[in-house]
Amino acid sequence: MRLNVLILPGDGIGAEVTREAVKVLEHVARQFQHQLLLSEGLLGGVAIHQTGTPLPQETVDLALKADATLMGAVGLPEFDQAPPEKRPEKGLLGIRKVLGVYANLRPVRSYKALLDSSPLKNHLVDGTDMIIVRELTGGIYYGTPRGIHEEGGETRAVNTMTYTRSEIQRVARMAFHLARNRRKKVTSVDKSNVLENSQLWRRVVVEIAAEFSDVALDHILVDNCAMQLILNPRRFDVLLTENMFGDILSDEGAVLAGSIGMLPSASIGDRKPSGAWVGLYEPVHGSAPDIAGQNKANPFGAVGSVAAMFEYSFGLKAEAAAVNRAVEEVLNSGNVTADLKPGGRPATTEEVGDAVVAAL
Ligand code: IPM
Ligand code: MG
Repeated sequence: MRLNVLILPGDGIGAEVTREAVKVLEHVARQFQHQLLLSEGLLGGVAIHQTGTPLPQETVDLALKADATLMGAVGLPEFDQAPPEKRPEKGLLGIRKVLGVYANLRPVRSYKALLDSSPLKNHLVDGTDMIIVRELTGGIYYGTPRGIHEEGGETRAVNTMTYTRSEIQRVARMAFHLARNRRKKVTSVDKSNVLENSQLWRRVVVEIAAEFSDVALDHILVDNCAMQLILNPRRFDVLLTENMFGDILSDEGAVLAGSIGMLPSASIGDRKPSGAWVGLYEPVHGSAPDIAGQNKANPFGAVGSVAAMFEYSFGLKAEAAAVNRAVEEVLNSGNVTADLKPGGRPATTEEVGDAVVAAL
């Protein structure tokens, strides 16, 4: 198969973890005899430095041409005081929107080898296996009006949370489809005791559920969900939620997986005429400027994102399974980075990437 992949390393540890992920991608492509065509582009703070904007038009063009995009991370402390419009994060939000990747899939599972890496008790975390489906191109992240302005001698800040029926329908369908191939249970998360947005969300999710009579649906308020995620994580199979709730809850998932460095993600849009899904693949973690450039970052989130790319963008299940198996083998060997609290000397980012390739 021809795999036309755009690489966007981004900022901070993004470059380091992406380098290892690309190593794995190249290796699997060779092993399974696929033709890999790689391009590279600028996104985030590096793009601001080199072009003045976090999402240059050239990057947009490359992303629209590619079959799939692999991203590292964006964000640099020097932009902490900058308004949202001028921040590296704006580039990420922009590319998600341009690609129309409305469903962000964030699998969270506990690995046996990492049970002690979680601050939670082993018996609570053991057996956790869920996928968070986060709506990614709507809600308060994109709603207008927004901004900070002066009004009647006061400074006022406004953001708008907005969803349309069709935006909720398409991401809900994605969640139910995924549930069909898992434990057949969708938990929809909202704040319908306070927000009209959530009331529409719940109504539409119930309507979509009627199309999937083999899948069970329940609803949970977001505050209670935050608690249940750490009290009883095994109760969740597919967790469906809007953009900001999903952002917040998925970081909680990191505690279950042992480290935020473990979490991959796949952002999926509609099908292209070729049948492939439009996809953007990125680890859940950020750019971690405090450890950037030190060869210490955990590349498993990025490597897992390569597995997700094989599965979702190219329908290559054996390739995806091979990568996931190799990750598990390396985890079991204990040859892992410092965030996973290895017994002996922590491995470097590069050593972990090499170990995954060796396991493959
Ligand atoms: C994530 C990140 C991003 C988000 C930031 C970097 C804009 O936190 O992917 O979870 O909020 O979506
Ligand atoms: Mg986040």
